[in-house]
Amino acid sequence: MTTLSEQPEPDVVKVSILNEESIILGFHLTKFMLRDVITIIPSSTYVICTDNNIASIYLSKIVDSFNLICSEITLSKGENASKPRLITYIIPPGEQSKSRDTKADIEDFLLSKACTRDTCILAMGGGVIGDLVGFVASTFMRGVPFVQIPTTLLAMVDSSIGGKTAVDTPNGKNLIGCFWQPKRIYIDLIFLETLPEREFINGMAEVIKTAAISNELDFINLENGVESIREAVLNPKRDIPFQGATIATRTPSQSLLLSVIMASAKFKAHVVTHDEREGGLRGLLNFGHSIGHAIEAILSPELLHGECVSIGMIKEAEIARHLGYLNQVAVGRLYRVLNSYGLPVSLDEKKVLDLVGKKFCTVDRLMEIMKVDKKNRGDQKKIVMLSSIGNTYEKKATDISDSIIRKILSPEIMVLPIKSSPNISSTHVTMKTPGSKSISNRALVLAALGDGTCRLKGLLHSDDTQVMLVALQNLGGARFEWEDNGETLVVTGGGGNLQIPDNELYLGNAGTASRFLTTVCTLVSADTATKTKKHTILTGNARMKQRPIGPLVNALRANGSQIRYVEKEGSLPIEITPSQTKLKGGKINLAASISSQYVSSILLSAPYASESVTLSLTGGQVISQPYIDMTIAMMESFGIKVERLEGDVYRIPQGKYTNPSEYVIESDASSATYPLAVAAITGITCTLPNIGSSSIQGDAAFAVKVLKPMGCTVTQTETSTTVRGPLIGSLRPLPHIDMETMTDAFLTASVLAAVANNDKGEECVTRITGIANQRVKECNRIAAMVHELSKFGVVASELPDGIQIHGSKIQSLKSPIDGVKCYDDHRVAMSFSVLGCVIPDGTIIREKKCVEKTWPGWWDDLETKLGINLLGIDFESSYHDSSEQADSFANKHLQDEKNVSIIFIGMRGAGKSTLGKAAAKALNREFLDMDHHFESTLSTTITEFIAKEGWETFRAKETEIFKSLLNTHSSGYIIACGGGIVETPSSRDLLKQHSKNHGKVVHIVRDINDIIRYLNEDVTRPSFNEELIDVWDRRKCWYKEYSDFEYVSINTSNINGITNEKDMTRFLKFIVGQDTNLIEPFDFFGRTRRTFFVSLTFPDVNPALPNIPTITHGVDAIELRVDLLSQNGSLPSVEYISQQLAILRRSSPLPIIFTVRSQGQGGKYPDTQEKEMFLLLEHAIKWGCEYVDVEIGWSPSLISKLIKKKGNTKIIASWHDISGTMQWDGEEVRRRHRVAQEYGDIIKIIGRANCLSDNFKLQNFVESRHSDKPIIAINMGADGQLSRILNQHLTPVTHPLLPSKAAPGQLSVAEIHKSLHLIGQLPKKKFYLFGTPIAHSMSPTIHNTGFEVLGLPHYYDIFESEDVAAVKPIIEDAEFGGGSVTIPHKISIIPFLDQITEHSKLIGAVNTILVDENKNGRKLIGDNTDWLGIFHSIKDSIEINSKTTGLIIGAGGTSRAALYALHQLGVSTIYVYNRTQSKITELIDNFPTFGIVPISSLSEPIPIPPQIIISTIPATSNLEIPNEIFSFGKGGIIVEMAYKPRRTKLLIKGDEKEWIGIEGIQVLIEQGVWQFKNWIGKKAPKNIISQNVYQNYN
Ligand SMILES: NC(=O)c1ccc[n+]([C@@H]2O[C@H](COP(=O)([O-])OP(=O)(O)OC[C@H]3O[C@@H](n4cnc5c(N)ncnc54)[C@H](O)[C@@H]3O)[C@@H](O)[C@H]2O)c1
Ligand SMILES: [Zn+2]
Repeated sequence: MTTLSEQPEPDVVKVSILNEESIILGFHLTKFMLRDVITIIPSSTYVICTDNNIASIYLSKIVDSFNLICSEITLSKGENASKPRLITYIIPPGEQSKSRDTKADIEDFLLSKACTRDTCILAMGGGVIGDLVGFVASTFMRGVPFVQIPTTLLAMVDSSIGGKTAVDTPNGKNLIGCFWQPKRIYIDLIFLETLPEREFINGMAEVIKTAAISNELDFINLENGVESIREAVLNPKRDIPFQGATIATRTPSQSLLLSVIMASAKFKAHVVTHDEREGGLRGLLNFGHSIGHAIEAILSPELLHGECVSIGMIKEAEIARHLGYLNQVAVGRLYRVLNSYGLPVSLDEKKVLDLVGKKFCTVDRLMEIMKVDKKNRGDQKKIVMLSSIGNTYEKKATDISDSIIRKILSPEIMVLPIKSSPNISSTHVTMKTPGSKSISNRALVLAALGDGTCRLKGLLHSDDTQVMLVALQNLGGARFEWEDNGETLVVTGGGGNLQIPDNELYLGNAGTASRFLTTVCTLVSADTATKTKKHTILTGNARMKQRPIGPLVNALRANGSQIRYVEKEGSLPIEITPSQTKLKGGKINLAASISSQYVSSILLSAPYASESVTLSLTGGQVISQPYIDMTIAMMESFGIKVERLEGDVYRIPQGKYTNPSEYVIESDASSATYPLAVAAITGITCTLPNIGSSSIQGDAAFAVKVLKPMGCTVTQTETSTTVRGPLIGSLRPLPHIDMETMTDAFLTASVLAAVANNDKGEECVTRITGIANQRVKECNRIAAMVHELSKFGVVASELPDGIQIHGSKIQSLKSPIDGVKCYDDHRVAMSFSVLGCVIPDGTIIREKKCVEKTWPGWWDDLETKLGINLLGIDFESSYHDSSEQADSFANKHLQDEKNVSIIFIGMRGAGKSTLGKAAAKALNREFLDMDHHFESTLSTTITEFIAKEGWETFRAKETEIFKSLLNTHSSGYIIACGGGIVETPSSRDLLKQHSKNHGKVVHIVRDINDIIRYLNEDVTRPSFNEELIDVWDRRKCWYKEYSDFEYVSINTSNINGITNEKDMTRFLKFIVGQDTNLIEPFDFFGRTRRTFFVSLTFPDVNPALPNIPTITHGVDAIELRVDLLSQNGSLPSVEYISQQLAILRRSSPLPIIFTVRSQGQGGKYPDTQEKEMFLLLEHAIKWGCEYVDVEIGWSPSLISKLIKKKGNTKIIASWHDISGTMQWDGEEVRRRHRVAQEYGDIIKIIGRANCLSDNFKLQNFVESRHSDKPIIAINMGADGQLSRILNQHLTPVTHPLLPSKAAPGQLSVAEIHKSLHLIGQLPKKKFYLFGTPIAHSMSPTIHNTGFEVLGLPHYYDIFESEDVAAVKPIIEDAEFGGGSVTIPHKISIIPFLDQITEHSKLIGAVNTILVDENKNGRKLIGDNTDWLGIFHSIKDSIEINSKTTGLIIGAGGTSRAALYALHQLGVSTIYVYNRTQSKITELIDNFPTFGIVPISSLSEPIPIPPQIIISTIPATSNLEIPNEIFSFGKGGIIVEMAYKPRRTKLLIKGDEKEWIGIEGIQVLIEQGVWQFKNWIGKKAPKNIISQNVYQNYN
């Protein structure tokens, strides 16, 4: 153990700010810092403020060293010197602590500790602590000195510097604060070692931002130092104590880390010094933030600030590129650097989508938010424009017009047709297209090995070339410098003199680089070896470590090179030992049937061998000969001529490459086809100066072989190509062309063929063949082209190895309404943008971003170089914001829509306060009772006020107070109004206004007779002068009219475990969009799963309530067939329906489908009452039903009106063909589908089968339709049953416990599963429990019950073994469907699996094996559901808020799952008790951010008493359970993890204290239910499982 007293005197660096050297950086600064602080800020009291996370790791050590240093200092000053005191204050972590309340808490604390002006405050923590504590210091005693000790990367480089302090308010972040400069900022990088990875990455965004705007050299450091910097923080070396404190002990990684952080801090300090209060210069720091902040406003807290800024930087750089200020090279570098540190670079990255769930950013919304930024004016926004890496276009932000921002932000783009003008044919464009990757890589190696200086022009900038460059640099082989903003790379060749690099050469996943460099590394000189550097090591990422390199290594080894595989035989990493003879040379044999890159690799290095090389290719067919030819041709350009002897034998002379002074990298030939095709289709002229007739790329023949015969004028030199198109509309078809040598160009040719015709009215067919390989590219490109072309009205069809296209007249083509789908394929996108250049109405290209794969700047080039106008389009926006919504967006500003205050209205006694309070807790809002507010504002009681002033004055005053309340409490509240609020017209107007501003007004309805009964018991309220029933009659219309939603509160307190409070929470979360309770269509692996809903056919659901859990087994939603309800034999009233719905919601958490089927559609509702029916449907939306079924046959005006109001409710647009005449292959069904697609979120079409084959027609229809919306397609009748079995999405099902089937032919879930099994669609799988002893395990009962109830063919068995290896054959068997793992295999199983989930990684154990089977193969995945059992047991029982704390007893294996569960539940302080403290320390080490607080005795008073206690120790341990642990009071929850006895001592004691007790067996069952769900994609039937388990268990 090292103690702080041994901490050496650190070497520090100082940065000056505001003309004082007050920023100090280094490693292990604690003692240095304390001594410094005590000396320069002498005070009587020092206060350290920090948060829980940091305190638990660092605080005690710091306190110790403070005492130590104080003693030292007082000693040196003599006995009488007074010793300063140190006090500490800890707040909960997180942004919510940055509040006025916490500020007040700290101040009260300081005052209570008698702190005076003579106090110095130390803010130790991230930005939250720094901002908050700085603000406290600024006003405490009119300002006391303070010190920043930043512990997050963000705080080190940004928030601690500059003196900005602030707290948040419900109206927005950082709105209250001031400038208050810290006296010192101590940046101790050692803090970063405990920072969670995501927080580190978050801070990197600011570091990268600063380098990007200020200094290219810093940026290069970041580019080259990714591995090293990440390692210094995430995986630091700890060879010696206090490593890094002194320069002598600093690792190279630490030095690099220090230098990049210092650079960032320095720049911020510089800006602050020269521009302390926000001006132009400071504005530069806003790079990435204009757009980043808008994203953050929507996606916070799911995305962190730096993550949003990262995406913002890319978007803002793209704007600069679009405007021609910045080139693609720079955008690419920015993109790669952000990406390499783990930051997101796009909103639709999987990582981002996973984090943000259902939230999304529409372009409209982003634009709206940016509008309110105070820096902007009119339709211009101020955005920082980069002009190159390290420089900005202006020394301040630049005005950018909205239309440009919109274009860049939009996910879709509309290509407008070229403006036809008489002189179009005189337009001549010259442009460069992206360089070829193959040629770029070869040129880099050649120039680096050559003698002299070579300017490489047009190099492709990609991950691959970047990696190659860095590796060559590290081999000392050459010098590289950029010119013309990265357009030219100046290579000073090293003539083949290479040295052993300092570190491993990390190649990421760059395949070409790994192959070429393998031979290059054999040329390294043995003389450069030292004691510590003996070999060259080539390595890469995980994917790279799978890719083969064997044949090449074999050939080199046979030739005498010493190469060793470091890990897996046949792949990187490899270690190459330099030899005196370098590459020996002479005869080399190479198996060349796998990759031509092996051949090129040897060819490129061969001239430097000790003898001239004769290379023989063996192994039969040599593949990709053109690439070998390319290498040989390029070697010749660098002065070495390779001779091809007979067959596949090459002789390479010895020599050195002579670098030509300039080498122009040829364009990628496939990319080149697009601008040339634009010329062909529009009639302009286009010249490409970087590809011509000498090219050896196959696609280079496109101009001559395709464009020329189609009627273009083509002129080519060796290195350039010029194409002039004929007049628009006069391209000629190509009867037949074989494109085997240029397959990638067939898409370009196809769009041209689509408009190729002649005036003679003949068939103008183009047939392209030889392109079969294009079926297996990014997508099936042939099918994609046929399909997308047909959307324009082009007739096209597939050929066995090609495509056939009928050319049409341009005027007859229409643009597809829903745009061109690109299948994430860059070539599809670019080809159709060529076609779009002439289509009259403008063509929308979806997923525009897919062009980034090969040509990120394509859209800019298409517009700015080729002159085609583009518009930004956002399908989501136009879909989500109707115009009226968009208007009110403008008023809403930044206010988060989801947080707008909710207002409750309704009769007194309806439950507004009780429910409101509970829901406010669950939604993390504040609750406010209007009546109380009234009373406290006027310091009177309402009864008194009315007695004195009368009702009229009361109402007037009420309105006045209500009005100001809506201003001050417009978000973050649930406000319960007095019952009479609707009596005053001006109050009603206020309610309307609130709804318009997206606030929600909810009417809490309760049966009036219940209310009367209830109120009669309460005498404290002022009485009305009239009968309650009359009051209700007068108000009820107003309540209806002025509310957006209606919540029906019922007397039953709890049905099937769902309380009123819980249901209220579900309702509110739904209406504000916090949790819309929608059906999850995907399984654990993201595959579409089958979903079902059960149609209830009860006339009254009440008697059936106990059966609801059983009836809903295996289904995903419940349909309430409203037309089948019956109130005393007649049509149900609105009230009756609302009651039924309310009861149903209390009996199941499943989403509800609200359906009113009319007689004409097979239901019972009268066909004549259309208006009444729509009234019911509108009510369904008001009641918060998740789904509403609407028949598309009703009046369109009624349907549209309904849909406008739908809010978060999803519409199922359905069509029932009761007549039985609709044919699935006819016109009618297509028409119905179109209409349904327009109205619905889900489409439902029900036909009738007259024979079995009608079901196949239905299947064909479903597969061939073009829509992203899910469809329910079914045939009624016995002949149609097959369609019910095969339907994928939301199949309606029945259950034996229902009185009747909702439709003829309906099946149950179990029946459908059994049928699927019989027809081979659901193979039987075997599941196992692994471990020992397990003979008495309940798991088989759990899972086999589940399988049986759901009709699944699977079987679960136990497999007992001591030796974990025995499970191997079982899990590898194809029949194996999944497994449970228990002691003793939970850890030892891991090596047998392909991967384990994040959960299990964190918990450190696997209890579940999942099988991920798809077309790419089969993978075994380890998961952990232990925590889920605990998590759900608690979540279903109590509401957790930010103040809830938990206690875990025990610190063994199970406690880890318990910890994880509590953390996932959002519990931020977790007390842990264990007999041995060291175990707790270990837990804290493993979960440093979980807020673990160790307690040494259970009877010690706990500051915030826990509401949750989890016991993870055996029931046999005779632990005393003191009363103190229950000091939370009634209503806490105990989770017991021990199974035997069923009622442990703890549970019994908990019972006495009126705590909820969860038995171990309950947790096991819950855990099993989730395990089952992860295997099967369905929740297990818990109630029957529990029954069976308890039967066997007791
Ligand atoms: N004043 C300014 O100029 C300025 C500039 C930028 C951001 N900010 C503010 O900064 C805040 C964000 O700061 P942040 O990103 O640092 O977040 P933060 O302060 O919330 O810290 C992030 C998390 O990391 C934990 N943590 C911090 N240091 C740790 C360590 N060394 N080891 C383990 N855990 C650690 C914290 O407890 C917290 O959970 C925001 O409120 C923002 O408004 C201010
Ligand atoms: Zn920032």
